[in-house]
Amino acid sequence: MTPLDLATKPTLTGDLVVLRPFREGDLDAMVEILSDPDVRALTGSVETTAEAHQRQELDDRLRDWYATRNDQPDRLDLAIEDRATSRLVGEVVLNEVDTGARTANLRVLVGPDGRGKGIGTEAVGITTAYGLERLGLRRITLEVFDHNPRGRRVYEKVGYAATGQRADALHFDGIAIGATDMAVDAGSWRGWPPRDA
Ligand SMILES: CC(C)(COP(=O)(O)OP(=O)(O)OC[C@H]1O[C@@H](n2cnc3c(N)ncnc32)[C@H](O)[C@@H]1OP(=O)(O)O)[C@@H](O)C(=O)NCCC(=O)NCCS
Repeated sequence: MTPLDLATKPTLTGDLVVLRPFREGDLDAMVEILSDPDVRALTGSVETTAEAHQRQELDDRLRDWYATRNDQPDRLDLAIEDRATSRLVGEVVLNEVDTGARTANLRVLVGPDGRGKGIGTEAVGITTAYGLERLGLRRITLEVFDHNPRGRRVYEKVGYAATGQRADALHFDGIAIGATDMAVDAGSWRGWPPRDA
């Protein structure tokens, strides 16, 4: 079986988005996106409303993170650009790759400028297609918190199905929040856009 090529960072173009490698100049837009309270709360980055309303710090760790995304041989981090405005609106990631089992985890975030226009759905669809059809992954998994029905809806539209439930995945403002594990397999993948749509 051919090895998984995660070192190549592709540019993938859809109707609404271009998914592309990060480049110099993206950092300021990413700081704004990562400062969005919804992004902070729904990705599990913070545990209180007050923390969700704090800004993402632009420190050396973050500078180094985005400067080195294209050098990573074991994961794929792509910027999501809105084709209508050419603006960076989010990121989509395949990480936690198991090269033996040919599995990976997907995560996505879209800032307020990009949300509610189909961008998240297309970014997840294109990345899932790339993972299953081009990289040769057998399965892509992800986790969505129960206080994120929009995220869950997006994953279901693309073809992910629930595989398990975890209570107490996150404590937010002192309240326990569960999470659903979801997955899509190469064998049942309907393509992107879905063949039966
Ligand atoms: C989740 C996220 C990636 C979705 O991207 P998006 O561009 O906003 O989503 P889209 O516009 O493609 O689709 C949203 C879908 O959810 C639906 N939706 C919106 N709010 C909803 C709600 N409260 N309950 C159920 N469905 C909802 C929309 O109607 C749409 O579905 P439709 O096309 O069938 O009408 C984005 O909102 C985001 O990054 N949010 C913050 C961070 C986050 O949640 N990341 C994911 C962590 S698992």
